[in-house]
Amino acid sequence: MSALASSPVRPDSATPDAGLVIRALDAPFGAEVIGLDLSRPLADEDFARIHRAHLDHHVLVFRDQRITPAQQVAFSRRFGPLQIHVQKKFQLAGHPEVLVVSNIKENGEPIGLGDAGHFWHSDLSYKDKPSLGSLLHAQELPAEGGDTLFANQHAAYDALPEALKTTIAPLRAEHSYLAKYEELRARSPWRPKLTQAQLDEVKPVVHPIVRTHPETGRKALFVSEHFTTRIVDLPEDESAAVLAELFALAVKPQLQYRHPWQPNDMVFWDNRSVQHLAAGTPDHLRRKLYRTTIEGDVPY
Ligand code: SIN
Repeated sequence: MSALASSPVRPDSATPDAGLVIRALDAPFGAEVIGLDLSRPLADEDFARIHRAHLDHHVLVFRDQRITPAQQVAFSRRFGPLQIHVQKKFQLAGHPEVLVVSNIKENGEPIGLGDAGHFWHSDLSYKDKPSLGSLLHAQELPAEGGDTLFANQHAAYDALPEALKTTIAPLRAEHSYLAKYEELRARSPWRPKLTQAQLDEVKPVVHPIVRTHPETGRKALFVSEHFTTRIVDLPEDESAAVLAELFALAVKPQLQYRHPWQPNDMVFWDNRSVQHLAAGTPDHLRRKLYRTTIEGDVPY
């Protein structure tokens, strides 16, 4: 019997993509994944390379992915269980794991969450288990605007003054989905009044201000303008002063990568390593993306 005939064949294993290349972006971080078609089952070897690149580069850009929502869900699930967003109204029909991010209105009604990402944040940091990572797939893009900004929270932590690192080392902060809710609700059609069941889903949580990435061991700042309300270990005025300083230091321009979207881009970022912000889209232009989020660990 030849060696080939005797080697075990796993019927579910896909063939690795010979053309797969991971190329760092011309930016402080981030990489482009070239030559991978996410509509096909992902070979274990390719999964391992994507997983490694995600840890190393924090933001991965997959170009021209002509994939269905079900294929986005299947790819996302390779990295862990998916989280269902509290805004059920903006789930994609038939795909509760997909949140529609869009400023489009149909028959006067918004079809998606149009102000998602209006403030800097890490997705679902208001949960006990915040998101490991998120994937946004471009469906419809505006002719101008609509960029997404990312800020590297490992580099932000590393660059802090030593005295500030020492101050914040033992401190914990509260994160709340409701922190900016009323402010957003006052000026947008996207924030319906939450039901009691929804409020119960988003009770405030407390996380360390400096978290350790569970896979790389690197430290990162883990507070954000959108969801962090107070440092629970400090009096109110001190808490406000330290948070204001950290919010500013966390998103300095030199820590950022700005993503200008191209048609069918899929962007996959690590919420344990970066914060992000939607830079904004002119009201008269249409923008629609599909988002999936992968559940992560309890921060420590
Ligand atoms: C988000 O915060 O998930 C949305 C970001 C964006 O729309 O660019």
